[in-house]
Order: sequence, then structure tokens, then C-alpha cells
Amino acid sequence: MIRVEKLRKVYKVGGEKVVALDNVSVEIEKGEFCCIVGTSGSGKSTLLNMLAGLEKPTKGKVKINGQLVNKMTEKELAVFRQNNIGFIFQSYNLMPTMTAVENVAFPLMFKGVPQKIREKRARKILAEMGLGSRMNHKPREMSGGQQQRVGIARAFVSKPKVIFADEPTGNLDSATTEQVMKMLLDISQKNDITFVMVTHDPELAKMARRVITLKDGRVINDTRDGVSLLEEDEKIAESFEEETAGEQPEKQAEDEQPVQVPGEQEVSNGHSQAISQ
Ligand SMILES: Nc1ncnc2c1ncn2[C@@H]1O[C@H](COP(=O)(O)OP(=O)(O)O)[C@@H](O)[C@H]1O
Ligand SMILES: [Mg+2]
Repeated sequence: MIRVEKLRKVYKVGGEKVVALDNVSVEIEKGEFCCIVGTSGSGKSTLLNMLAGLEKPTKGKVKINGQLVNKMTEKELAVFRQNNIGFIFQSYNLMPTMTAVENVAFPLMFKGVPQKIREKRARKILAEMGLGSRMNHKPREMSGGQQQRVGIARAFVSKPKVIFADEPTGNLDSATTEQVMKMLLDISQKNDITFVMVTHDPELAKMARRVITLKDGRVINDTRDGVSLLEEDEKIAESFEEETAGEQPEKQAEDEQPVQVPGEQEVSNGHSQAISQ
């Protein structure tokens, strides 16, 4: 479902090179629930952003469903994300002026779903997530855990093939974290969705079948059901064939700024939000 070959990302900060990711090769299966773990600064968010096409790698390949994400133009990426990908954010990124139902129904607008059907589907999924009595509440009228459940419902409502989540429980207390994590595992499995989640919490990652551990931008451990996949990852790296035609030399690519998401919109908390999802 997701295949990463020899991924490398170098940032340049004031003349200094920061190697955020180096030689990362992994394959995530369809329907797999995968946690990316590691301490702060180990490259987790960089990897997730590159999987989702939010940033371009310096070198290497990202394939989702056989499509080369790192070669897509911004327009192609926007359409690809709309049809295939959902996001869940640590800071929820809900629209503050919209109710829970409106927030969840919102991504369906871009798919041309009529309003009545959009809201019906939003109500159904919110009810399934135990938010039946919060349908018409605005984000500030809900607890953090409730807001994140709205954020989760919004990511799942269009039944994407893949969902990416960066520290989705990072702002929640431990009891709520466990509830939300169980919900994510359950709803992903029921809908056969490939789920890739970043967390700095190794205990939380233990709840997932697949755990990829990063350190200093490298994969130092990769397990499925506790069995190491590092040998397989090595084979993926060996299969990598560099495409020289049209490829930018590393020096130029390193200067690249993070790619902006089309349709991205500033919301009042200062975080940007991919409204098209
Ligand atoms: N936009 C950027 N510009 C420069 N350096 C960056 C940028 N984003 C991340 N880094 C650096 O890359 C490394 C990995 O960062 P990140 O992927 O955010 O780690 P994590 O999510 O595991 O905490 C860190 O050293 C960080 O400082
Ligand atoms: Mg991070």
C-alpha cells in the first residue's frame, strides 16, 4: 500500500545541514495499523509529511497504491489527497465557527456530495463515536477528547484508503488517550483503512501491530507482531533504482522550502488545515 525506498531529507538551516531522514526503506501493508515512534527530533514528522506528499524528499521514493507521490505536481497531489488520504492533527484543527456536524461534513463538499447526504453521513459517524449529544456543539463547547473525536470522524467520513496522524493524542490526558487510541484501532480495522500514526510514546505504540522506530533519521527497529522486518527493509533499499532523468541534484533539492498544501486555510488558532483532505 505504502512503499518507501531510500528516503532522505536534508534541511539547510543557516548554512548548516540537518539530515532529518537518511536511507529509510519500509513497506506498509493495506489495512495495517502502523506507529512511527522515536524521541523528539528523530524524524517522525518529517517521514509522515513525506508519506503524505506535504514535503518533497531530497532523495528516494514514496509510493502509495502504486503511485509515485514524490513526483506529483501540486495539482495532482491535491486530487490524490482528496480521493485517498485523511489527516488527523494533534491540535484537532476544527473550524471554530462550525458545529461538530458541519466540521465532519465539510470534506464531503469537495467530493460533490449533496448537503443533506453530507450531514446525514456526518451525524451517523458522530453517533457511532459516542457524540450523539454533541452534534450541534462548536469546538470551544467540547472537551479536548470530544474535539479529537470530531477530528477523527472528519478524517474517516470520506472513507480514505490511508489516514495519517501526527501525535493525535498529544494534547489528551492518559485515560482519554487510551479511549481515542482504541477507537482509532477499531474504526481502521472495520473499514480496512491503512493507518500511519506518529507518537513519541512507546507504550501507546505497543497497541499497534506494526511499529517503526526512528533514531537520528534512521530506522533502528521495525516489527510486525513483534517480528523484525529489518531484513525485508534492506531488500527494499537494494531494489531502489535511482531515476536520474529529471531528478534534481541533491544540492538544489536541499534548499527547497516545505511545499504548501493547496486549499490550505489558516484558522484562528494559527495552525493550517488541509480542508480538502
Ligand atoms: N522545516 C525544517 N527546517 C529545518 N530543520 C527541520 C525542519 N523540520 C524538521 N527539522 C529538523 O529535522 C529533524 C527531525 O525533525 P522532526 O521530523 O520534526 O522530528 P520529530 O517529529 O521526530 O520530533 C530535527 O532535527 C529538526 O530540527
Ligand atoms: Mg514531530
